[in-house]
Amino acid sequence: MRGSTVWNESMAVLKHSAEETAQAAIQVQHVTKSFTNKQGEVVQVLKDITMDIRHQEFVSVVGPSGCGKSTIFNIIAGLLEPTSGKVLVGGDEIGRSTGHVGYMMQRDLLLPWRTIIDNVTLGLEVKGVAKKERRELAMDFLRRYNLDSFADAFPATLSGGMRQRVALIRTLVTQPDIILLDEPFSALDYQTRLVLEDEILSILKQEGKTGVLITHDIEEAISVSDRIFVMSKRPTSVKKVYEVGLAEAHGSAMKARTDERFKQYFEAIWSELDIQMGRTS
Ligand SMILES: Nc1ncnc2c1ncn2[C@@H]1O[C@H](COP(=O)(O)OP(=O)(O)OP(=O)(O)O)[C@@H](O)[C@H]1O
Ligand SMILES: [Mg+2]
Repeated sequence: MRGSTVWNESMAVLKHSAEETAQAAIQVQHVTKSFTNKQGEVVQVLKDITMDIRHQEFVSVVGPSGCGKSTIFNIIAGLLEPTSGKVLVGGDEIGRSTGHVGYMMQRDLLLPWRTIIDNVTLGLEVKGVAKKERRELAMDFLRRYNLDSFADAFPATLSGGMRQRVALIRTLVTQPDIILLDEPFSALDYQTRLVLEDEILSILKQEGKTGVLITHDIEEAISVSDRIFVMSKRPTSVKKVYEVGLAEAHGSAMKARTDERFKQYFEAIWSELDIQMGRTS
């Protein structure tokens, strides 16, 4: 049962039952990826990635800078082909584009020349939804998250936290089952980040979505996640998986931070990360 993991010496890498695998929202199976750099050399980024993410689960991916985290997301979103291995979303192999996955990219900015509502309707426009329908859908989401009074405002007039909420709504409005979030909070100040982590987690739980978050912030990962995947340095693979579930147990990401196991998770994950002081990759 989630949220009941008791800390012990062997807080283990979890092996999932066949039943859980069958229910997985995302299955990444032995995925490798190599790029050819400008010098013509082949650089392996993903070594052998295998991960199963359950329906309505919220997981985080942490790993050293440049190890290949965004590359994994690009493959799950169908934007990049793996060199080998495969990815199943909802049990089906993904094509080049899939409607099941919403992706909030690392530098996913709102278009400054479009109003908030016109930013939110962007994905629906791409999908070919009629104007009236897409405005109604967008307003419905904006109303739900108290941003409707900003519908006709431009992004520059909103705070950083509000802009990120709008970017999330822009992803949600296309009604994907899975939301990929690549460092959505990294540009925000600490207080805003805490509030937003809490809010975004509860939005995704409320909407019944499966969420995958890439973050550099170990505390953030511990406070929001059901599980955390710790990646090794490049060429990367999954080094360890932690069952956390503190947010689930406490009913909020903010309260998860008060749990006595919080610090223990932090120390364990910090020591797992291949971070070399003074180097960024
Ligand atoms: N299209 C590409 N062509 C060549 N190399 C690439 C390409 N995309 C990514 N890479 C390389 O793959 C490696 C991993 O990149 P990626 O952006 O996935 O890492 P990351 O873990 O998300 O990094 P960060 O923590 O900085 O966000 C980097 O060395 C990058 O230069
Ligand atoms: Mg990245």
